[in-house]
Amino acid sequence: MKNALLGIEEITLMGPGPSCVDRSVLDALAKSTLGHLDPTFIKIMDSIKGQLRRLLHTSNELTIPISGTGSAGMETCFVNLIEKDDPVLILINGVFGMRMQDVASRLGANVDTLEFKWGTPVLVDQVKEQLRQKEYKIVAVVHAETSTGVKNPVAEIGELVKDKDTLYLVDAVTSLGGIEIQMDEWGIDVLYSGTQKCLSCPPGLAPISFSEKAVESVRARKTKVPNWYLDLTMIMNYWQGETRAYHHTAPVNMLYGLYQALYLLEEEGEETVYKRHMDNHLLLVSGLKEIGIDMLVDEDSRLPMLNSVIIPEGADDAAIRSKLLKDNKIEIGAGLGPLAGKIWRIGLMGHTARPENVEKLLASLKVAL
Ligand SMILES: Cc1ncc(COP(=O)(O)O)c(C=O)c1O
Repeated sequence: MKNALLGIEEITLMGPGPSCVDRSVLDALAKSTLGHLDPTFIKIMDSIKGQLRRLLHTSNELTIPISGTGSAGMETCFVNLIEKDDPVLILINGVFGMRMQDVASRLGANVDTLEFKWGTPVLVDQVKEQLRQKEYKIVAVVHAETSTGVKNPVAEIGELVKDKDTLYLVDAVTSLGGIEIQMDEWGIDVLYSGTQKCLSCPPGLAPISFSEKAVESVRARKTKVPNWYLDLTMIMNYWQGETRAYHHTAPVNMLYGLYQALYLLEEEGEETVYKRHMDNHLLLVSGLKEIGIDMLVDEDSRLPMLNSVIIPEGADDAAIRSKLLKDNKIEIGAGLGPLAGKIWRIGLMGHTARPENVEKLLASLKVAL
């Protein structure tokens, strides 16, 4: 029987995630598996909490990676906070805002939405007006909308929510590790992310952080958290305190990988990492301009790590993407929903955000077109 793993080639991952993974992170994944209550492993867990707190600029005690991808992080945040008929406001300008709406609705929340054109940011004045009319338990927004390449004004929305009882919930799946996040300063109460974007670790973990106010809200629930696996009241006992209680077997090696990815980020320096994302984004935008390719999103709200580019007239979307993959071993992403067939999504996330990758893509795209 032929081993299917022999077919794996090195692909330059320039789509919406996963991103390229540094060799030292892959080596970390391959280290000996320890028991999930082994003292050395507990030390690694504690280090990860510190690394995440520093990256998020938060003092939140409950800052841990959830076992599962970014969507598990999303589910964790909503399932622990929502009880039936809780009023929730979701700000939507792409696929992941819609996913939030779906998750919150399934939990029986009373969901209102404000929708904005895909490719444009959430408008703060409209949020302000909505919050004047109604009080919400949760206001939720996606920081970096991966489906469109738009950066939403998370800090400004935070200002509107700060003095209210409302919990401010932010999706930082694509933003974490690529652009600044000041969780405490921006008044974010609840945040989730994923490992496979700008943290450049394979998919499989979802960092989350809950403020004291959010933890109190979980503790004050009238009903049990309706999902056993993601119930933070139990998971906390594994991640915190002198003695750790088994909840589920932690994905030990994945956590080694996350530790190493965060270690690399701190070693390079947060500011340097953000600048590297921005510099490579600007290099890409100017190179694309030279070959006549425009950006979907206005400069003010463009994400550096997710570049939505308008597919030039006459170019065959799928054929070009598969040619890049076959001939150049480069993966780029397709458009989603109303943007399917209209844009490509070029990721410059984490370890992928390097000039040699930008140059390779530009040269390959020129030939493919
Ligand atoms: C902004 C955003 N939120 C949530 C998710 C869901 O994460 P995952 O696919 O890792 O479950 C993604 C994935 O692309 C995303 O980009």
